[in-house]
Amino acid sequence: MIEPRGFLIGGEWRTNNDILDVRFPYTGEVAGRVCLAGSEDIEDALCSAERGFSVTRRLPAHRRSEILYALADLIRERAADLARTIVLEAGKTRALAESEVVRAQETIEVSAEEARRIDGTILPLDWNVAGEGRIGCLRRFPLGPVLAITPFNFPLNLACHKLGPAIAAGNSVILKPASATPISSLMLGEMALEAGFPAEALSVVPCRTDLAERMVRDDRIACVSFTGSSAVGWHLRSIAGRKRVGLELGGNAAVIVHEDADIPFAVDRIVAGGFSNAGQACISVQRVYLHQPIYEEALGLLVERTRALTVGDPRELKTDVGPMISESAAETAFAKVEDAIAGGAKVLAGGTRDGPLFEPTVLVETTPDMAVNRTEVFAPVVTVTPYETFEEALALANDSEYGLQAGIFTHDSRRIAQAFAELRVGGLVVNDVSTFRMDHAPYGGVRGSGIGREGPKYAIEEMTEERMMIFSP
Ligand code: SIN
Repeated sequence: MIEPRGFLIGGEWRTNNDILDVRFPYTGEVAGRVCLAGSEDIEDALCSAERGFSVTRRLPAHRRSEILYALADLIRERAADLARTIVLEAGKTRALAESEVVRAQETIEVSAEEARRIDGTILPLDWNVAGEGRIGCLRRFPLGPVLAITPFNFPLNLACHKLGPAIAAGNSVILKPASATPISSLMLGEMALEAGFPAEALSVVPCRTDLAERMVRDDRIACVSFTGSSAVGWHLRSIAGRKRVGLELGGNAAVIVHEDADIPFAVDRIVAGGFSNAGQACISVQRVYLHQPIYEEALGLLVERTRALTVGDPRELKTDVGPMISESAAETAFAKVEDAIAGGAKVLAGGTRDGPLFEPTVLVETTPDMAVNRTEVFAPVVTVTPYETFEEALALANDSEYGLQAGIFTHDSRRIAQAFAELRVGGLVVNDVSTFRMDHAPYGGVRGSGIGREGPKYAIEEMTEERMMIFSP
């Protein structure tokens, strides 16, 4: 019997009999158990977040920074344990889980640096007679309790992308992790307390959806920072009232490969960017547009390299692609592939599924209105379409309700500038795939992909408010 882990309410660990089984996606076996916070616990977390904010908002920058550096050190010390946990709860391969832990540590370190860089502006006010002799001072102040709701696909790093900036900004935090992957977040909460974050300012609450929604509606929360599906994100925004809401949502990322690109390199990157983490990233490569003159060559290589991937047990080093988070997630995605086939698409690689194991799949002869192109598939599936002109490729890439990141492979500076001006996305990656992300850089989408930007410096802006002082000496 695996002992259930408690949850954290204002720095206090609590247990109860409402147990959630956390399953290893590859076998379905129980990998851990956590207690779910109940209604009274949530009320206590909200009260504590309010009390905690009165402490955190007064913490000086050097102290917030020290806490974050200490947290980064703890993540480094416990890297092996964290990576093992991520493999078991998310079904990630070992290599991916280890790289996620390194990224998480860096995200917290960047937050520690940014905590010292929340600067302001001095405004001269003598634009007319009334302003003569006065000085304006614009400064950022912490916004208030942050509710961070995180997904299963990067359970540690995406929690760090919310916790790090919230601490750096001087806010208290309630972290609600995905039900599939709560254990790494509970470990993160434990480490944050050890690092010296004021206990009453931190709660980590695996809980049911209705209670999460209650927190989203509650006026004691100043900011909701959500990463997850578009449907849930936009719904949460509609019930959040006047609070600040940051949404990092889905995508169906496009990658364009033009004739002058380094084709073998582009194909390698598409394979990595489309199939790693079993395609479960919001910026996973989903729609590939190949310039007609290199279509056959690039497609042939893509199919060959996709077929060479090893799918299986994520604990084994030889595995390239592990299971999806659950059999039902795989089923939903697979239905989109079946629809495409029924509509005339052809499968050149993959196209089969065994429980949560989804063979990396390459589809051709799809149409833009098929679900495999139109919606976010969130599975190891890429569609490949030829194009004649670069303008046509840009139009195809823009033919989406989403706009998170895109990739283009070309060395032509005019085409790069054209793509930068025309593609409606939050981030354009040149000579690499949409899946590339640097954790300190601004990250987020336009249109259906969300609002606001993450990356600690930018998330701090979302989690602070500007206040103006007019000083008359
Ligand atoms: C996401 O799925 O939005 C996060 C991707 C990443 O951080 O690499």
